[in-house]
This record gives sequence, structure tokens and C-alpha cells, in this order.
Amino acid sequence: DGATVLITGAGPAGLVLGNLLLAEGIDCLIVERQSRAHVERRARAGFLGAHTVRVLTAGGLAGGLLAAGRQHDTCAFRTEDGEFELVYGERGNGEVHTVYPQQDLVRDLVAEFLARGGDIRFDTEAVALTGVDGHRPELLTRTADGLTRVLSGAFVAGCDGRHGLARTAVPATAARRHHRDHRVSWLALLAAAPQSMAAVAYAVHEAGFAGHMARTPDVTRYYLQVPRGTDPQDWTDERIWSELHLRMRADRYGPLHEGAVLERRVVDMASDVQDPIQYGRLFLVGDAASLISPSAAKGANLAVMEAEILARALTAAVRGGDEKPLAAYSADCLPRIWRAQEFSHWMINLLHGPAGDHDEAVFLRGLQRARLESLRTSRRHQDHFAENYVGI
Ligand code: APR
Repeated sequence: DGATVLITGAGPAGLVLGNLLLAEGIDCLIVERQSRAHVERRARAGFLGAHTVRVLTAGGLAGGLLAAGRQHDTCAFRTEDGEFELVYGERGNGEVHTVYPQQDLVRDLVAEFLARGGDIRFDTEAVALTGVDGHRPELLTRTADGLTRVLSGAFVAGCDGRHGLARTAVPATAARRHHRDHRVSWLALLAAAPQSMAAVAYAVHEAGFAGHMARTPDVTRYYLQVPRGTDPQDWTDERIWSELHLRMRADRYGPLHEGAVLERRVVDMASDVQDPIQYGRLFLVGDAASLISPSAAKGANLAVMEAEILARALTAAVRGGDEKPLAAYSADCLPRIWRAQEFSHWMINLLHGPAGDHDEAVFLRGLQRARLESLRTSRRHQDHFAENYVGI
């Protein structure tokens, strides 16, 4: 049992890679720990950059997002100094986001993978990976009812996310993992309410950061900065809305559209990058390769970018006998990963100032204010922002 390419994980990374490989006539098999219903309902990101849409369109994977996705081109910053809107779609490369919930994209990608004749095993966990430094890697899998099976392939794509098996299969002597804890946490919320304004809104407030971004006509994502270790259940709907109104300065800019809070989850902002993201016949893609904080909505976009590069490299190897692009996979991806990390890190520093009156906190808030002021007034800074915000 097996396939030329074994893929662990049916998130955006594994599903885009699988579909692109099938389009090239390369057989592959996806192993996913969760059920199909689970992955098709899991709400995550939703802002797709221009490159992502191009890759999905070229791969015949954009039917759903072109029909139901919404174009988005503006973000607003609210601070004690006032509000300014930045129409990033008119800056930089003139690119916009397409807002399409990740679970809808995953659902489309699963349907297309199956329509192309792909083999996907849900409720099946990858539990051990051996032989990736040789020619015939083997993947041991176990189903929910305890059945184990050994799959073999010529290549393994580790697309099983930040807590997956693939990243642990790279020996510590063969790669380094660079980690950064940003020491900031967000309460990530989904509200059953239409968006409150057209733009993505970022509010910088002495009580902490708050964010607003569209998802669908009836669901909106909000974020509230909270102390580390916060229990999301401590936040009732009432407390959430009152804090959002305060930090979004609703008294000045108008009330928010309230609705039941459908999901509340604390996200500790952290990033890591593995270097290299390949080992023998194993290639890491998406969160398995590098974890990025959600501050600039780059996670899913990086995953698609890497999946496209790996699909091309595997195609050259399998169909053309040329393994050079595969050898260069990590070197091709890492500069782009670091660039996204840099922007995401800059966004964190743009949106969060430390609380308190001690010298360092006041100093850092001064820098934060200068950064926002530069973005508000400098056309060149806005061009740079737009290029990095939508692009990879
Ligand atoms: N065996 C099989 N499947 C596994 C295993 C395992 N041992 N461990 C994890 N998985 C599955 C998870 O259930 C999940 O469906 O791997 C998948 C990984 O998917 P994601 O976490 O979505 O990761 P990725 O595809 O890299 O996503 C890219 O999208 O929204 C963002 O935050 C997300 O930045 C991430 C990005």
C-alpha cells in the first residue's frame, strides 16, 4: 500500500499540494488524523493574498473562492490620535485580499482532490515515519479503531501542522528550529454578526489591542489582546462586547454589530522557523515548516506558496528525473518565510505597546506611535506596507 508521494495532513498545505500533484499525473495519498466533517468545519484564517489566489486559479482550485469570496482592499487604524484608513489596494502592487473562510477552501479542496481520483484517508493518524534518509520512506498509520498499516512511497510531504509528526521526524542534528515567543496573547473570537465596518480595523488602546475583520456576511472575526494564561471562559459575551466597544472607540466611530460569540480561543503569539525544511526524502510544508503569528494573516498564504514550490519540484523529480529543484526546495522557501515573519513581527510591534508607566514601556509606546504616524503620512511607507501585507 502506498503512493509516489505520501502526504501527512489535510489542511491547506496538504490539500493544495495533493491537488497540484494529481494535476501533473503524480499519484499521492493523504493521511489525515481528523474526520472529513471536522476539517471541513474548522474555522481558521480567511484572508487570501493575491499570490494564493493566482496559484489556486492556475491549479483549477478557485471555483468556490471566485464565486463566494469577497475582495478586500482597506484597513483602518484607530488610536488615541484618531482614525486613518489605508486603501492598500491602491498602494504597492495594487493587489487586494480575497476573503474566503479557510474551512470553505478546505471543503472545496477535498471535493476537488476526490474528483481528481485522489486517495485521502480520514480518521487516520501518521504515528511513525522511517527511512526518509534512504530511498523508500515508510509511514506507519493508525485508524481511530486501532488498525495499523504501513504505507510506502518515494517521497513524504509533511503537511501535518505545528503539532504533527513530520517535524519531529527530522533529527535534531539535521536542522535547527528558531523560536520566538512574542509574549502577547489574543482572544480570537467569531461572532454571529455582520461586519461592523467595511475595513479591517486595528485598534491600539491603552487597555490593549482589538481587531475586527470580515469573514462572511453573517460571521465576523474579532480579536482582543488578553494577558497570558487567560481562560477564554472568563470572557462572557457581555464582557467581550463591552471591551470591544471600548477599545474600538465606538463612542467616537459608531457601535459594533453585536451577535452571539460562536468561538472564543486564546492564541499565544509565537513564531518559529525550521532550517532547513527538508531532510532526505521528507519535505515540510505550511505550519510544519514554520509557524507564524496571526498578526498579518500569513499562515495559510505561506502554506500555499510552499505547496506550489514543492509540487513543481516533485514534478521535475518524478516526471523529468531532475532532483535539483527538490534539493533547492528549502533554499527557495526560506527567504520568503523570513520575509513574511519579518512583516508579521513588525505588525505585532505596530499593534501592541507594553502597558505601564516605567521608562521602557513609555519608550516602546513612543516608537509604536512613530511607526503608526509614518504609516499614516508616508506614501512610500504605505507602498511598502501594501506590498508586504498582501504579497509573499
Ligand atoms: N497524522 C495525520 N494528520 C495529522 C497529524 C498526524 N500525526 N497531526 C496533525 N494532522 C493534521 C491536522 O488534523 C490538520 O488537519 O494535519 C493537518 C494540518 O493542517 P493545518 O494545521 O491547517 O496546517 P497547514 O495545512 O500547514 O495550514 C496552513 O493555515 O490557517 C492557517 O493556522 C493555519 O497557518 C496555518 C495554515
